[in-house]
Parts: sequence; C-alpha cells; structure tokens
Amino acid sequence: MLPAIIPSELTKRLLLARRVAVLTGAGISAESGVPTFRDALTGLWEKYDPAELATPEAFERNPKLVWDWYQFRRELCLAAEPNAGHRALVELEKIFPQFTLTTQNVDGLHERAGSQNVLRLHGSILRYKCSRTGQPFEDSFPLTAETPPRHPQTGHFLRPDVVWFGEVLPVDVWALSEQAAREADVYFTIGTSALVHPAASLPKIAMQNEAVVIEINPTTTAFSASASFSLRGKAGEILPALVQAVLSSRSTD
Ligand code: OAD
Repeated sequence: MLPAIIPSELTKRLLLARRVAVLTGAGISAESGVPTFRDALTGLWEKYDPAELATPEAFERNPKLVWDWYQFRRELCLAAEPNAGHRALVELEKIFPQFTLTTQNVDGLHERAGSQNVLRLHGSILRYKCSRTGQPFEDSFPLTAETPPRHPQTGHFLRPDVVWFGEVLPVDVWALSEQAAREADVYFTIGTSALVHPAASLPKIAMQNEAVVIEINPTTTAFSASASFSLRGKAGEILPALVQAVLSSRSTD
C-alpha cells in the first residue's frame, strides 16, 4: 500500500491554522472493527431497523430487545481498540493551539486513544441512565437483575446513555460544537456520511464562516461537493500521513 498523499496546498493551510475543529462519525472506528451504520453490506442499518432499536418508542414497546441490542454493541465497543486514525487525532490536538473534537460516535474510542475534551453529540454506549428521569447510573448491576435492570433510586428501567432518533442532542455539547465550527480556521469531517442532522450541519457552518473544510472518507458523501479538500481513503491511513506532513513541514520551516 502506498502512503497517503497529502496535497502540499493543504499542508500549507494547516501550518497557518490556529483553530482546528473535527467532526467524526462511525467511519473513524471502522478500522477498529466497530461497524458503521450505512456502509453497503456491513452497515448496521443494512441489517437492523433503527425504528425498532434506536427510538424512545422502540424502547417503550420492547425494552428487552433494545437493551440486548445495545449490550451486544457495547461489548463490541469494549473489545475494540483505538486505531491509527484515533491516535493521529490525539497528535493533531497537540499541534494546534485550539482544537475541538466532536464525535457522533458512542464507542469511547477517542477517549481511550487519549483525546482530551471529546464532545459526544450522541452520548455514550458505555454509560446508563434512568429511562424516565435521565438520572445517571454508574454502579454495577445486581446479579438477579431483570432485563433491563432498574435504576436503584428511581425504580424505572435503565437505558443506554445515547441519543436516539427523535431525541434532542445535549444542549451544551451542541453549543460548544457549533461554536468550534463557527470559529475554526480548518474543519475536518472524517468518516461520516453527513446525512444525520444536526451533526451534518457542522461542516457547513464552518464553511459559511470561511474555514477550509477537509473531508476524509473512502467514498463520496452528501458533503463531498462542498469540501475544500476531499481526501479519499481510510482515516487510519490518511490521518497519520497528514500528521507526518504537518510535523515535517514545520521542522523544515
Ligand atoms: P454512517 O454509517 O452513516 O457513515 C459512515 C461513513 O464512514 C461512510 O461515509 C463511510 O464511507 C465512511 N467510512 C467507512 N470506513 C471508513 C474508514 N476506514 N475511514 C474513514 N471513513 C470511513 O455513520 P455516521 O455518519 O457516523 O446516530 O452516522 C451518523 C449517525 O447515524 C450515527 O451517530 C448514528 C446513526 O444512526 C444515532 O444512532 C443517533
């Protein structure tokens, strides 16, 4: 495999950047073995119906089904390891004076790679909360627990602390992500199909505010035509090459 090619014009723009922001989607974790949602054949929504598994109504109808599906995915995420793409983002964070990482992913792999201050737009599959009150639950389940287990204080079913379709994003996380998009000199959209709103509007907000917007994705997306640079390939190959390009250009300056 040839090393990914980073356009020299892009490296120059990165050397000048002070405020960098990133949006990641399921594609950044694909090389860790965590399935994406919409990739042909391997995407979760190719096999499963989001209306049956990822809405508050689905949980009302069949809490056990939803709980079991999320437990299965949680195990998958816990068994996965951060990949070269996650690690390269940790390096990028060290390079720029202001760096904001917003993710749509719930798998915790950015945090495990060492990224600081990850803005999780869609919550965390590794955490639980009360399905009625939203009160967090950070304990271990009693062995005799029914499925789903109940929150010990509220008595209602626990649910994964993720954002389901039809639910509002965490207000503070959205506000910080939007502000980072507005202020960015350079904005990256990595491994996302750019179809789910409001997350998909972040690169557009950056673009409207004169940022250079770079897409990293093996395939074209709804956003590709608008991107300043479209780097076609896997995040785990392109991002390390990009870090290398910036570091070596810096040392020769
Ligand atoms: P999608 O599954 O819609 O898109 C994944 C993107 O990653 C696709 O564009 C792939 O081409 C790309 N991709 C695949 N492998 C890659 C790799 N190695 N490197 C870089 N890119 C790669 O996932 P999202 O856009 O994240 O929401 O989906 C957004 C939201 O839809 C999710 O957060 C989830 C889902 O329904 C909720 O559950 C609320």
